[in-house]
Amino acid sequence: MSTARRHLRSIDEVGRERVLKLLNLTSHMHEINQRPVPKVPALRGRVVCNLFLEDSTRTRLSFDTAAKRLGADTVAFTGSGSSLSKGESLRDTVETLAAMRLDAIVVRHRSVGAPWQIAQWCEAAIINAGDGRHAHPTQALLDAYTIGQRTGRGADLSGLRIAIVGDIVNSRVARSTTSVATMLGAEVTHVGPSTLLDPRLDVQRCSDLDQIIGDVDVLYMLRMQNERMDAALVPLGGEYTRRFGLTPERASNMRADALLMHPGPINHGTEMTVDPSTLPQSAITDQVSYGVAVRMAVLFDLLGIGEMEEES
Ligand code: CP
Repeated sequence: MSTARRHLRSIDEVGRERVLKLLNLTSHMHEINQRPVPKVPALRGRVVCNLFLEDSTRTRLSFDTAAKRLGADTVAFTGSGSSLSKGESLRDTVETLAAMRLDAIVVRHRSVGAPWQIAQWCEAAIINAGDGRHAHPTQALLDAYTIGQRTGRGADLSGLRIAIVGDIVNSRVARSTTSVATMLGAEVTHVGPSTLLDPRLDVQRCSDLDQIIGDVDVLYMLRMQNERMDAALVPLGGEYTRRFGLTPERASNMRADALLMHPGPINHGTEMTVDPSTLPQSAITDQVSYGVAVRMAVLFDLLGIGEMEEES
């Protein structure tokens, strides 16, 4: 088994110093990604398993791309088509993967805490790619990096006003991105109907998007996470979109130098009726691009040894 025992499971667990190290490392990875051949052998011989037991496009593909750009081998594991569908337990599955001497397991799971549980069953480094409503630390890192790059602030987000809008209570992105933004000095406000806000989180709350939209530096729209709704928490009949959706009219009230962000996938017509690609404020494509560099940084931080070399 691999001896790697460091993990990336939540922003709060890794703390500010390592967040700063990862953001700095991301800049190096971004530089590699700009090269004609964006590949280095830094993780040659390492094996990264993408264990995705919940759907994903961006996170799964960017981890796969990140591992390959660093020269690692990748193994893809999804629930359908595996022996999980024959009733094999998650523990037996993880112990089976561990027996194949994988160095890292990137895990997405609908249950809160799955990455911590899995870490007790194997010696691989565990990276949380989203556990239920709880945490999505690499999304938070790519959000912080995107804000830093687009505003020219780097890792110092002090004083920036960030509004996170929508389905906060069901959102691991809201939790993790709030943690990292606050850690880096930003002022975060959660905006939405009271049924979708989380009173346990230590942030400002607001139920009137129009009141603040012209003031914020970053407008971060969230997806309505219908798969995690236990009850009818949302006003019906387009009322949610009327009050909290980014309509063309509302978008015209954003500052010209503000940023529009969304973790994806977007529910067009619900949280957004404007086409974000028509807005110069949109940083949504940057979020996806920087996501690869962030995940390269995370993998290198956990599995790399020494300096990176050129591909030979
Ligand atoms: N932002 C995000 O986690 O997207 P995916 O579900 O497509 O990975």
